[in-house]
Amino acid sequence: MLLQGRKVLVGLTGGIACYKVPYLIRDLIREGAEVRVVMTAAATKFITPLTMETVSANPVAIEMFPGDRFVGTQHIDLAKWPDLVVVAPATANFLGKVASGICDDLLTTIICATPSPVIVAPAMNPQMWKHPSTQRNAAYLGEIGYQFVGPAEGEMACNESGLGRMVEPSELLEVIKVHFGANRKKKALTDRRILITAGPCREPIDPVRYISNRSSGKMGFALASAAIAMGAKVALVSGPTSLTPPQGVEYIPVETTEQMYKAVSKRFPRLHCLIMAAAPADFTPQAVADSKIKKGKAGLKLDLKPAVDILRTLAERKKGQLLVGFALETDNLVANARKKLKEKNLDLIVLNSPLDDNSAFDSPSNKVTLIRSDRKPEAWPLMAKEDVARKLLEKVAGML
Ligand SMILES: Cc1cc2nc3c(=O)[nH]c(=O)nc-3n(C[C@H](O)[C@H](O)[C@H](O)COP(=O)(O)O)c2cc1C
Repeated sequence: MLLQGRKVLVGLTGGIACYKVPYLIRDLIREGAEVRVVMTAAATKFITPLTMETVSANPVAIEMFPGDRFVGTQHIDLAKWPDLVVVAPATANFLGKVASGICDDLLTTIICATPSPVIVAPAMNPQMWKHPSTQRNAAYLGEIGYQFVGPAEGEMACNESGLGRMVEPSELLEVIKVHFGANRKKKALTDRRILITAGPCREPIDPVRYISNRSSGKMGFALASAAIAMGAKVALVSGPTSLTPPQGVEYIPVETTEQMYKAVSKRFPRLHCLIMAAAPADFTPQAVADSKIKKGKAGLKLDLKPAVDILRTLAERKKGQLLVGFALETDNLVANARKKLKEKNLDLIVLNSPLDDNSAFDSPSNKVTLIRSDRKPEAWPLMAKEDVARKLLEKVAGML
């Protein structure tokens, strides 16, 4: 009874995945939680309130203005009641409304009024999930502290497959247990000092131009959020991105690979683990022009020299730190990653390929393979970067 006495408000919105939610509620109750259910009008088309009332053993709230009974300020009472709100499945519509502060039904009003943490399990057609507005809404809700679980990859009710399925109830239950600290995984990184690098670096050519790459920083920022949630003390050294650093991290913004190296190097001796998810430059201009280089018909030849290899340089000073590198390869993926692992004295390489659809650079999802010297490669399916981050840190916690 790991959730004894915990109050969980489960919100359902209108998607096929509503059929999974009674299993979640049954398991929450088996673990000792008290559950109340709020449904949107669309959700009631997919599963009956009677089913939800029966499995939760509590009345189900749907209407903001029921008319047939006195409700008073039930939206505030229900918002204050739970220790945790879980919205599963969460539609694209729901994410859009909450991200915009719209409260036009009971569930969105409760979400806006609750001081409790909110876990969201999105479920929708892959195109709906990929849509820029859904991505923007999900990213914003993540930034303001909503915890996203999924979506997962797989077959959809609409006969398509891709990223968009609601995670299975068992996975959601695990996350809820971690949230309440009923699972040892939650504090698996308590007091561990982890430095994560993220984003691209910019190598100046002249005062207005630079060489860079397409890294968005999303993977590194997701790792920083997950590490904080697991109790670690996290420093996030990041090149320029448009992302908001998660609350609780020591944030060190940098521009060049040299600056990133200095920021990491200074903190390296006190770290338990360094995770290099950034994309520092491999080459940097020999010289930086003092003033803007004029355009001309002759074109421009740039002389580049190797930039500092942060991981390799620090690996030479390794004294028990766990070193995790990300590798982005386009050919001979596993062989090249193994070579890098050995040459740079790393403990783990997370290999991703920009050739995979929906993976790596600037994508919300990632398909990775873990490479360790003493193991077979471990290929993970396409997952949201938040899920890759959580699973990877569970792995790191086990290795530390
Ligand atoms: C059969 C069917 C399945 C649907 N499944 C989903 C879904 O999985 N995810 C989603 O975002 N919308 C889905 N929709 C559309 C939503 O139900 C619709 O956008 C609705 O307005 C959502 O309302 P709500 O967010 O208030 O629950 C589906 C619609 C139908 C007819």
